[in-house]
Amino acid sequence: MRIGFAGTGYISRIHAQAAQSLGLTLNAVVNHRPESRADFAQQFNIPHQYDDINALVSAGTVDALVVATPNVLHAPQTIAAVQRGIHVMVEKPMAMNALEALAMQQAATHSGATLMVAHCWRFDADILWLKQRMPELGPIIRTTGYGIHTHWGPSGWFTQKTLAGGGALADMGIHAIDTVRFLLDDPLPVSVYAKIGTHYGNYDVDDTAILLIEWANGTTSVVESGWWHPHMDGPEAATKLYGTHGFGQAFPTRIIMPNADRSDVVTTAAGFAFPRPTHCPQSLYDTQLAYFVDCIRQGISPIPGAAEGLVNMRIIDAAVASAQSGQAIRITHA
Ligand SMILES: NC(=O)c1ccc[n+]([C@@H]2O[C@H](COP(=O)([O-])OP(=O)(O)OC[C@H]3O[C@@H](n4cnc5c(N)ncnc54)[C@H](O)[C@@H]3O)[C@@H](O)[C@H]2O)c1
Repeated sequence: MRIGFAGTGYISRIHAQAAQSLGLTLNAVVNHRPESRADFAQQFNIPHQYDDINALVSAGTVDALVVATPNVLHAPQTIAAVQRGIHVMVEKPMAMNALEALAMQQAATHSGATLMVAHCWRFDADILWLKQRMPELGPIIRTTGYGIHTHWGPSGWFTQKTLAGGGALADMGIHAIDTVRFLLDDPLPVSVYAKIGTHYGNYDVDDTAILLIEWANGTTSVVESGWWHPHMDGPEAATKLYGTHGFGQAFPTRIIMPNADRSDVVTTAAGFAFPRPTHCPQSLYDTQLAYFVDCIRQGISPIPGAAEGLVNMRIIDAAVASAQSGQAIRITHA
């Protein structure tokens, strides 16, 4: 399989390493900055370089493309590729908003190309261990999830609304949202109430958000996102699940079940360290890309695909509308 990369930044390099480990043919790269794409092409021994997505997709040099550019480019680059039948794995957030995400989904459905959204925590060993243990917890009544950076936040395009769409909620909160959806078997959101603000920097995007999400299965989730916060109650994608029978948690990853005498029986995920040496290890992205390639080869629709990415964007759009109006926003699904 010949794979290409849109974007030559931080996460593209991780995806390119994953592609190398999988033995794929790293065949093309697109970036508007010549030095940056030349450097990337040299590092990964990529023969074809383009300065524009249309040049890449019409050249016929790739079967699949990883879109890992600023969020404003996710929809146009993905649509340009899938319209040509090129399979795409697009980084999170899927798009700037749900309207764009819907257009991406429709373009992929129309052409038959595979479209996956890189919600990476679905491929994490801790998260998968917790998901396997979920039946023991009983119906989940409430959850709390985190997407927070302490004493740090990104700069550049991440903090510009026109390029990123939103701030910490779109960047980090989406990990918490997608992780809890995955653990709960992808329930649809019914309503979202949110408070969103900018308190830690001088930019036009959010760096603080709290969401209350009501799901169709009756569970209620709290999601917290932020950059530059003085404290966090868990690292990226940390999730707490309060069931009728027991409690489950990722990072630290464990379940806690009550004994007959009301003492706690704690079961931890064997061999999983907390904190990890690297919270987001290369292996997470290797597993994710391997799944994308498997889906293409076997003609399977990926999960997380366009449908999951779109729901996450609807939740973010609803959160923004809620914060603006002060009201809970009901979400309708076509
Ligand atoms: N899943 C994860 O763990 C994870 C981690 C980091 C970033 N991301 C996501 O990946 C995406 C990229 O983030 P990043 O941290 O790599 O950002 P980055 O700033 O390091 O890289 C962005 C790249 O896009 C390039 N670019 C800008 N305009 C372009 C154009 N017109 N054509 C082609 N390339 C262009 C930039 O030159 C740069 O190489 C974002 O959507 C981000 O949310 C996901």
